[in-house]
Amino acid sequence: MSLVFRTALCERLMGNVAGPELVAEVSNAGGLGILAGLSLSPDELRARIRRVRVLTSRPFGVNLWLHPGLRPPADVAKIPDATVRAVQETLNRFRERLGVPTTLGRPPAVPDVIDPAFAVILEERPALWSIGLGNPDPQMVGECRARGIKVMAMVATVEDARAVAARGVDIVVAQGGEAGGHRSTWVKTPAREAASVGTMALVPQIVDAVPLPVIASGGIADGRGLVAALALGAAGVLLGTRFVATRESQAPEMWKKRLLEGDGTDTTVTDAVSGLWARYLKNTFTVEYDASGAPVLPALVQSAAARDIFTEAAKRQDPGHFPMPTGQSVGLIRDLPGAGEVVQAIVREARDVLAALPRRTRQV
Ligand SMILES: Cc1cc2nc3c(=O)[nH]c(=O)nc-3n(C[C@H](O)[C@H](O)[C@H](O)COP(=O)(O)O)c2cc1C
Repeated sequence: MSLVFRTALCERLMGNVAGPELVAEVSNAGGLGILAGLSLSPDELRARIRRVRVLTSRPFGVNLWLHPGLRPPADVAKIPDATVRAVQETLNRFRERLGVPTTLGRPPAVPDVIDPAFAVILEERPALWSIGLGNPDPQMVGECRARGIKVMAMVATVEDARAVAARGVDIVVAQGGEAGGHRSTWVKTPAREAASVGTMALVPQIVDAVPLPVIASGGIADGRGLVAALALGAAGVLLGTRFVATRESQAPEMWKKRLLEGDGTDTTVTDAVSGLWARYLKNTFTVEYDASGAPVLPALVQSAAARDIFTEAAKRQDPGHFPMPTGQSVGLIRDLPGAGEVVQAIVREARDVLAALPRRTRQV
């Protein structure tokens, strides 16, 4: 049976949603849990990896973004004054509403942690290094290979699939436009709909383009999705949104509630939260920021600028001003099971779907 993966959250504010408990639950149930490494200090990342090891003896992965805009992060001192001002004036509208002190100042610098985090991965040797939003240097892949760490890179276009395959990765994740969270690309396009080919069309194109196992990602939340992905030639599936709505997820209750109530039309792709295109549940923040026409700051500088707003929203349990990375599969989520139960249910449902297929195809 194929593997069921999960990935965790991309930003420090949200990073606690998917802690080591969720990762271990998935691996213990026969999937491959993946720990989010972005924005963690090397010590924190090491501590989380070690905590996963306390909770499971099964293989797991560690995810890092490799976006070139973070290696190193943008120098906030070099952002034009007018851009900072336009962004802060827009953010001030939310601050005033939430009773947060307004500011026109420069946002804090984003820490330069990707290379130190990669060094931790090499030392700790998880089974898998999972890459989002980037193309690894061949020597990074070689260093992993020398330590028995498999390398998996997530892409959203056929061109990028070929590029990561040429760098020697072991596994390619095809991320369809339905996916929650950031579009896994490393060049930001001006158009939000760029690199948004749907999973159904993208997976077979990438399967045909690269001689590697391809994992389907985006819009998959149950056994039907797993069977469909296998039919498209995928070797497994990677799920994000489904695992936000689990008992082990530390997502705020307001987010879980919105997941249970939402449908596929409730999400939007915006760069207003982090500076990069990503799919979130639509809320007051995404709608009003987008409508403002204000510029956005570089990768993760934008989220650093808005952090006070997101923190206050979390404190108030206000879903209108808290970013909730979520994919179109939200419409398939109607319960809050344990993460291990999700893995088991998907495998069970996939077997049932496969068993029923001959009957269904006779009816066609
Ligand atoms: C809440 C959330 C956080 C995510 N964080 C990351 C991350 O840190 N790194 C990464 O490579 N992908 C991340 N992703 C994207 C997933 O890797 C994956 O592409 C996506 O969740 C699949 O689509 P689905 O949400 O429809 O299951 C995240 C997705 C969600 C929903």
